[in-house]
Amino acid sequence: MIGRLNHVAIAVPDLEAGAAKYRTALGANVTAPQAEPDHGVTVVFIELPNTKIELLEPLGEDSPIRGFLEKNPSGGIHHLCYEVEDIRAARDQLKAGGARVLGDGEPKIGAHGKPVLFLHPKDFDGALIELEEV
Ligand code: CO
Repeated sequence: MIGRLNHVAIAVPDLEAGAAKYRTALGANVTAPQAEPDHGVTVVFIELPNTKIELLEPLGEDSPIRGFLEKNPSGGIHHLCYEVEDIRAARDQLKAGGARVLGDGEPKIGAHGKPVLFLHPKDFDGALIELEEV
């Protein structure tokens, strides 16, 4: 069902500082910061030849990554994003197999303007998984 790894997301306490490390120390192309109020984060993407790295900084008081950064104040890997062709079909198949979909179960529009869903990390060995329809 799943296809390519679309991105690995890292929660960071300071987006500009995080972006600067990739731009300067690692010599990567980093996109401009993009506010995602629906998801409670501001993001930049680091564009690699085979995938992307997404840096996430909290946006707003009830950002879903605030608790994560309280537990991991210097930042940490937050989620993996896999591509799927049909996100509703993928969701229905996963739910039928017992996996829990976060939120109301309906896809939201993600940072790339495409529908996304998140799967409960306890069902996937402690890894939060994002599915993105491509
Ligand atoms: Co993501």
